[in-house]
Amino acid sequence: MKRVGILTSGGDCQGLNAAIRGVSKALYEEFGNDVEIYGIADGYRGLIEGDYKKMKPENFSGILTLGGTILGTSRQPFKMMRVIEEDSVDKVQAMKDHYKKMRLDSLVVLGGNGTHKTANLLSEEGLNVVSLPKTIDNDVWGTDMTFGFHSAVEVATNVLDCIHTTATSHGRVFIVEIMGHKVGWLPLYAGIAGGADVILLPEIPYSVNSIAKTLESRNKEGKRFSILAVAEGALSKQEAKMSKKEFKAARAAMTEPSISYRLAKEIGEKTGQEIRVTVPGHFQRGGSPCAYDRVLSTRFGAAAAKLIKEKNYGNMVALQNGAIVPVPLSQVAGKLKTVPTDCEEILAAREIGIAFGD
Ligand code: F6P
Repeated sequence: MKRVGILTSGGDCQGLNAAIRGVSKALYEEFGNDVEIYGIADGYRGLIEGDYKKMKPENFSGILTLGGTILGTSRQPFKMMRVIEEDSVDKVQAMKDHYKKMRLDSLVVLGGNGTHKTANLLSEEGLNVVSLPKTIDNDVWGTDMTFGFHSAVEVATNVLDCIHTTATSHGRVFIVEIMGHKVGWLPLYAGIAGGADVILLPEIPYSVNSIAKTLESRNKEGKRFSILAVAEGALSKQEAKMSKKEFKAARAAMTEPSISYRLAKEIGEKTGQEIRVTVPGHFQRGGSPCAYDRVLSTRFGAAAAKLIKEKNYGNMVALQNGAIVPVPLSQVAGKLKTVPTDCEEILAAREIGIAFGD
């Protein structure tokens, strides 16, 4: 009997259930009645606390289009994994113990960056781990694409489309704050797809003067409105020069609820224009996965089941140049796939006159 544990960890995204379905259906196809799948609740929390249940094949039916995750998820920071807190629990040992208690042959982990650091740690500790890259941020190193990204692009683009009509009617400047703390793939793609005039990314520090110039020249051209797609992790040129500590202190002292509100104030003061802010926030992670993500999740799921069949553990399934390949967890862990500032998407955007505030 093969016993496989499965968990989803970190921020949710569209396509998690499609991927869970892909893994399980492929395992049942391969092993029939000779496989038992254990659903672990709320990511690593369930593995630490022994909160899991044996799943039935029917649990994985009808979930292809369902948003969120049927297993639940939570954020369990990697930096705390080795730290014994007030509850005196040795988290790593507890995860190993529950893996043994469940008599698992392997553990399937669906997650983003933080999740992959812990997945690698568990693999180094001797557990048979296979992982799938999920996140709306598309920032997992080693894969061209994560599932969740394209669905979130659709949502954020739709917000920009809706804002466009109001911005046009009122002749206003609108800032739409798009998720992405450290990496700007989502604001870049949604910004291009939604016809933003200015896109601000964490990778390209901005200057308010430069943004004001763009808005003023649009006014001169007779354009009644402007739309800015701003990454939640956008930062100014001055901030980019700060040490981590200085940056943290500066942001802690910021009175506005987010960078977009600060920008609205600063740009408003500089240009005298009326600026409105829209923050779609977690909307971007919600709802049904788009067709692209359903396909990618299914491919990743089937590939993960294949790795289990081949006992090829310690790997993440990844998309590289159109093909699904295994990438060692040791290579993935601790790295971020940021937006290269000279990537084709940015170059094309610049060529059609989109400004990046630099
Ligand atoms: O990693 C996905 C993500 O949605 C980021 O884009 C965002 O910065 C973060 O999670 C928000 O985290 P939380 O759901 O914990 O507020």
